[in-house]
Amino acid sequence: MIRNNSQRWGSISIGLHWLTALLIIGLSIVGLVMTELPNSPLKMQVYALHKSFGLTVLALTLLRLAWRFIAGAPADLPGSQLQTLAAKIVHGLMYFLLLAMPLSGWLFNSAAGFPLRWFNLVQLPKLFIGYNPVLKDLAHDLHESGFYLLAALLLVHAGAALFHHYVLKDDALKRMTGKMP
Ligand code: HEM
Ligand code: HEM
Repeated sequence: MIRNNSQRWGSISIGLHWLTALLIIGLSIVGLVMTELPNSPLKMQVYALHKSFGLTVLALTLLRLAWRFIAGAPADLPGSQLQTLAAKIVHGLMYFLLLAMPLSGWLFNSAAGFPLRWFNLVQLPKLFIGYNPVLKDLAHDLHESGFYLLAALLLVHAGAALFHHYVLKDDALKRMTGKMP
């Protein structure tokens, strides 16, 4: 059950999918709320946690893609060529954003000239050079627009999963929840 096969996802891919989904939803809510907090030590702590959990998404996504490469993916679901293509585009964009969101955050942090420590344990290098106001604004815009694109894709993606499950009544959701033999 650990490996993926042609019918279903295995426990590693399933675990990484749902853990990532949870982290993304948490990071998005915290991201939107934290910018509104008044300046305080609490705000600094929330920012630091947002950054550490965000970098965790980067690491988990790299692991997930490596595992997908090693263990493969189930066969395409039955459906028209257009449906298969739409799913591939949405999934591809989501993977892209799972990398682009943390990287733009990291870039923003670097260009703002702030140090970055993952849960106060590992010091991370600055991306490119130090303080750079132009890059800082660009990275911030990317981080913000990336979030809106990811949120829109999530609605389409979750809607499609529920449509498969309740309307088409196929195995799409079951094979991502471990309910397939
Ligand atoms: C932010 C949250 C989420 C992200 C970033 C995300 C991302 C992804 C990605 C990239 C894939 C493609 C896997 C691959 O082909 O390698 C995938 C598959 C899948 N996701 Fe999500 N997902 C999220 C939330 C959800 C939610 C809420 C649901 C259900 C309501 C869901 C249901 C599924 C299902 C059923 C598949 C498997 C599709 C298949 O087997 O072809 N996901 N997800
Ligand atoms: C997948 C991971 C991530 C998601 C989904 C995410 C999401 C968000 C969201 C929704 C916001 C609010 C946007 C706004 O209103 O400006 C935000 C702000 C922010 N994020 Fe992230 N983030 C992620 C990773 C990171 C990482 C890794 C870092 C830094 C290393 C980071 C640093 C920041 C900072 C500094 C802000 C505040 C910007 C400001 O003060 O205007 N984020 N994030």
